[in-house]
Amino acid sequence: MNLDGTIGFMTQGDRHMMRAYYDEFGNAEWERHEKDIPGRVSLEIHRRFLARFVNAGDRVLEIGAGPGRFTLELVNLGAQVVVTDFSPVQLELNKTRFANSASVESWQILDICDTSMYADGEFDAVLAYGGPLSYAFENADEALAGLFRIVRPGGVIVASVMSLLGSWRFFLEGVIQESENIGEDANDAVLRTGDLRHMGGAHVCQMFRSRDITELVERCGGQVLAISGRNWTSLEKSEALVRLEGDADRWRRFLEHEIAACAEPGALDGGTHILLAAKRD
Ligand SMILES: C[S@@+](CC[C@H](N)C(=O)[O-])C[C@H]1O[C@@H](n2cnc3c(N)ncnc32)[C@H](O)[C@@H]1O
Repeated sequence: MNLDGTIGFMTQGDRHMMRAYYDEFGNAEWERHEKDIPGRVSLEIHRRFLARFVNAGDRVLEIGAGPGRFTLELVNLGAQVVVTDFSPVQLELNKTRFANSASVESWQILDICDTSMYADGEFDAVLAYGGPLSYAFENADEALAGLFRIVRPGGVIVASVMSLLGSWRFFLEGVIQESENIGEDANDAVLRTGDLRHMGGAHVCQMFRSRDITELVERCGGQVLAISGRNWTSLEKSEALVRLEGDADRWRRFLEHEIAACAEPGALDGGTHILLAAKRD
């Protein structure tokens, strides 16, 4: 660890570990969005957020696309998509699903930290849902600045990152258990820096507070257009929510309230992820 509490630069070994993690993950990334009520609410939050910023005919670079739950949304919005991921297994799953779609221009292996293969302003929008920016660690500034470079003036970046405070709350039992195993100093370091590498588990990522993400965008020469937490009242499964989902009208109303609540300043840090849309200044 460095003297300032940072872990140091992400090594090739760290990158291989994350790639292997997502290679192993397979199709679970698709199923995660539909398997239970918190997942389905989250899907709706992400879909509606994305629809505010992508128009029919837009050329969109999707980063960390995984099996393609949001590639499908981009296709349905009428976008022309360049699909990328740094996991060859995830990219192949995506290709299998969208092989016959005229809306996907190509599939490319890409690490969010190096978008130098694209020209300045060549995309109308970039989508990075599900945390690719959370895996850039010390390269997050460089990665985000790279995304601003490749969108046209007025173009938008839509992304989601892992939330530090919401994850701490949601995973509290596990956090307490881990601190007992590894020591409270590691937990202090995670809460201070958002860097889960201090815990040393199989899944590591950089978590953010909403103010961290706003500062990151501004440091990289951008401006936050919209920001939202991922789930406010519906982080946990509940029988009451099952009843609501069973009634189309009540469910529609609930989703409206939930999605509005997630965008309130007091809720931004309350979910397990933070969604953001940003444009170049
Ligand atoms: C949690 S999944 C999200 C998949 C999809 N975007 C979704 O939301 O359903 C994260 C994806 O990002 C990819 N990923 C992780 N780190 C990345 C990086 N540095 N560059 C590009 N993709 C990355 C993983 O391989 C994985 O497919």
